[in-house]
Amino acid sequence: MEQAIQVQPAQTQTQAVQMPTLPDMESKTAEEVLKWAVDTYGKKVALSCSFSPEDVVIVDLLAKITKKPVVFTLDTGRLNPETYDVMDAVRQKYNIKIKVMFPKTPKVEKMVRAKGLNLFYDSIENRKMCCQIRKIEPLNRALKGMSGWMTGLRRQQSITRTDMKKVEWDSVRNMVKINPLMDWTSQQVWDYIKKNNVPYNKLFDLGYASIGCAPCTRAIKPGEDERAGRWWWENPETKECGLHADPATLAKAAAGQQPTQAAHA
Ligand code: ADX
Ligand code: SF4
Repeated sequence: MEQAIQVQPAQTQTQAVQMPTLPDMESKTAEEVLKWAVDTYGKKVALSCSFSPEDVVIVDLLAKITKKPVVFTLDTGRLNPETYDVMDAVRQKYNIKIKVMFPKTPKVEKMVRAKGLNLFYDSIENRKMCCQIRKIEPLNRALKGMSGWMTGLRRQQSITRTDMKKVEWDSVRNMVKINPLMDWTSQQVWDYIKKNNVPYNKLFDLGYASIGCAPCTRAIKPGEDERAGRWWWENPETKECGLHADPATLAKAAAGQQPTQAAHA
């Protein structure tokens, strides 16, 4: 049995929340971690789903645990058509609802009128502004009132992710963050997808190894690390949009190690 956890009531970002004692689940399987999350938090825990290979694996695992998983996605307005295709394929295969979050229209209008549609190529500051408006604000809205969120983060993805845990405290949002595939390799993810016939983004058949928004993602060359195609004009230590890394983590990564190379299906 896992150590008991105090279930937090619904929270908003502005409320101060004391960090509960979280169980150490590093030796647990993804299924065990997800089962614990659903049993502990019920409808107050949601999967943040970009329809990455990791995220579709989690949907498949969740569907074996509960008929009605809480799943949301952040539609930035700049996604690839293939991402919408897999979104619909997942919706149909698992018969689940997906809450689609959009950015606030006035904020997007103001930003692109002032700085242009493709502002992110001009500076890191612009890129972060775009991510803030198109991703972070909708994420925070999606998580309002929740006790925890689930992600497809893996340690091997980036030097900014090596210290993360399967169950950890998100001190930015004051809630539990559950990363059940933290210790999986890319190969394990793809083996699961193939074995279980899970729908996936077809751009992965065209040399992509990590997919975000269309203008900020490209395919990678053999030997490049798996996030080399994300914001490829930036240094590895800045390649977080703010969904997952606070400034302290990024500073630590800037001082740190090299990322691992991608393992492809
Ligand atoms: S990002 O911060 O660089 O964009 P990445 O693409 O590696 O993140 O995805 C890591 C995890 O962040 C995903 O497994 C998912 O949980 C969450 N995530 C990223 N993008 C989205 C999105 N558009 N909608 C919902 N969740 C997302
Ligand atoms: Fe904007 Fe690119 Fe960030 Fe998408 S990934 S929100 S297009 S800067």
